[in-house]
Amino acid sequence: LRVNASEASGRPIPKTLFGIFFEEINHAGAGGLWAELVSNRGFEAGGPIIPSNIDPWSIIGDEDSSLTVSTDRSSCFELNKVALRMEVLCDTKGTNICPAGGVGIYNPGFWGMNIEKGKKYKVVFYVRSSGAIDVSVSLTGSNGLETLATCEILASASQVSNWTKMEVLLEANATNHNSRLQLTTTRKGVIWFDQVSAMPVDTYKGHGFRSELAEMLADLKPKFIRFPGGYFVLGDWLRNAFRWKATIGPWEERPGHFGDVWNYWTDDGLGYFEFLQLTEDLGALPVWVYNNGISRNDQVSTSHVGPFVQEALDSIEFARGDSNSTWGSIRAAMGHPEPFDLRYVALGNENCGKKNNYRGNYLKFYNAIKKAYPDVKIITNCNGLCQTLDHPADFYDYHVYTSAKDMFSKADQFNCTSRDGPKAFVSEYAVNQDEAGNGNLLAALAEAAFLIGIEQNSDVVSMASFAPLFLNDNDRWWHSDAIVFNSSQQYGTPSYWVQHFFRESSSATVLHSTLQKNAYTSLIASAIMWENSDDNKSYLRIKIVNFGNDIVNLKISVDGLEPSSIQPSGSTKTILTSGNQKDENSFDEPNKVKPTQSPLENADKDMDVVLLPY
Ligand code: AHR
Repeated sequence: LRVNASEASGRPIPKTLFGIFFEEINHAGAGGLWAELVSNRGFEAGGPIIPSNIDPWSIIGDEDSSLTVSTDRSSCFELNKVALRMEVLCDTKGTNICPAGGVGIYNPGFWGMNIEKGKKYKVVFYVRSSGAIDVSVSLTGSNGLETLATCEILASASQVSNWTKMEVLLEANATNHNSRLQLTTTRKGVIWFDQVSAMPVDTYKGHGFRSELAEMLADLKPKFIRFPGGYFVLGDWLRNAFRWKATIGPWEERPGHFGDVWNYWTDDGLGYFEFLQLTEDLGALPVWVYNNGISRNDQVSTSHVGPFVQEALDSIEFARGDSNSTWGSIRAAMGHPEPFDLRYVALGNENCGKKNNYRGNYLKFYNAIKKAYPDVKIITNCNGLCQTLDHPADFYDYHVYTSAKDMFSKADQFNCTSRDGPKAFVSEYAVNQDEAGNGNLLAALAEAAFLIGIEQNSDVVSMASFAPLFLNDNDRWWHSDAIVFNSSQQYGTPSYWVQHFFRESSSATVLHSTLQKNAYTSLIASAIMWENSDDNKSYLRIKIVNFGNDIVNLKISVDGLEPSSIQPSGSTKTILTSGNQKDENSFDEPNKVKPTQSPLENADKDMDVVLLPY
């Protein structure tokens, strides 16, 4: 491998080359990155009709003798009218004595709440009653026997004759990863509950994100976040699509929606505002994906798509408008008077060529957005890889899900692309076929090779993000993901660790390098020069993938370096491999396939290195 290290021989890599793609899939957000512990907090999961679906809420007590639970439409929140009505038949005195611990309801969260000793949890709920109330708010183990934290709420009839907000802070006295929240009483009467939330007090930057998961994202140093999804944005049907206006404002007033593509309800605590906040917290730029009037099964005709276009314009005003603008003022009221740095929007997802209104709708959006916000960059999902686009666009979206072998071969995918047209945004890529398992070493190496190809072709590829990002172990819908978690644990798959090798690439210089492969066609390499802002030094980084079964003795020669700039003592090598190409990480072995770093003692202008198989 011969590398020309003089930066003059190289080419700047776009500042935004490597980012992440968040989709609400596999309970990535609800029950994942969004730290809310209660699932179906407004009893709305059945939609606006009653009786509603209160799942996973369950009843504590005997429904024949102690209480009856139903839903009605008496909530004080206009967009989510369903409330839970609990008629308590037992009491502390008389003939029908309540069981010890009382009767009521509990919520196990998303497959169990993670409650940790010494940590604080804020529980908020709305209540109304025809009489005085005496409600215990408790965090307990999964069978209700072990009490981790509890608090009693007493209120007179006049205090709760109208809907009243209650707020308590609970501190856990023990740890249980499979806990639940209980609302119980031993007092006869009728109580209505609505909008019940339990949030850990400690969240990432205090903004509601589960810290350990957000930190794993921060470690990737993403330059952009594409959100809130691909098919999630579309919906199987438009009536179930993600509509941003229903996801902003006070959480209690958000109606939530059923994501029919990935088949689960979300309360939309993680809404448009929170996504924008996440990008800012991670130092990334938002890439906001619109539904342009097309779902997977139905579509709005171009002549009727106007309201969707207006919704898009309003969303840009929400992100960027000043505090006096209609939508900017709502953002300001939510606690963010400064605008968010929204510069990229994508119109639709994988619709081009599949839905005949795509182009017409796209043009309506494109013209309206460019007129109002000429600097906003627009991404089409028509493929510009091999053919010239027949409509204006700043970027075209490119997705690839394939086998490891095919992904490896796609490393040179962009070599022949026209250098003059719109740039590619490789917004979804992953190895998920054939021998990929649930994301193994082989899959990750093929992705590394593909990214090396992207780095080398970063004059025509401006952005790239792996997909999907998260998998909740309890909802294994889409198997090859970057980060796997349950209520209390998380680990990176080999694909996640591959992303680490590219963390410094955005804004770096890709150097000219040539690899003489001889018989080793399974090798691919690239070299970058990057500035480390911690010590203000330039570093040369060479990345090599050995996708084959052979040990390779590789000679590396670096031209154009001043001898004084070679510092073996500060040089390192980082290796991602494992005993078997099919090795995966798991909760039991989270670090089975993880990069290991060690000194590169023979760092020099000429080096002999040994590349292990895979
Ligand atoms: O990443 C999962 C899905 O794959 C996305 O929603 C869709 O865009 C793609 O087909």
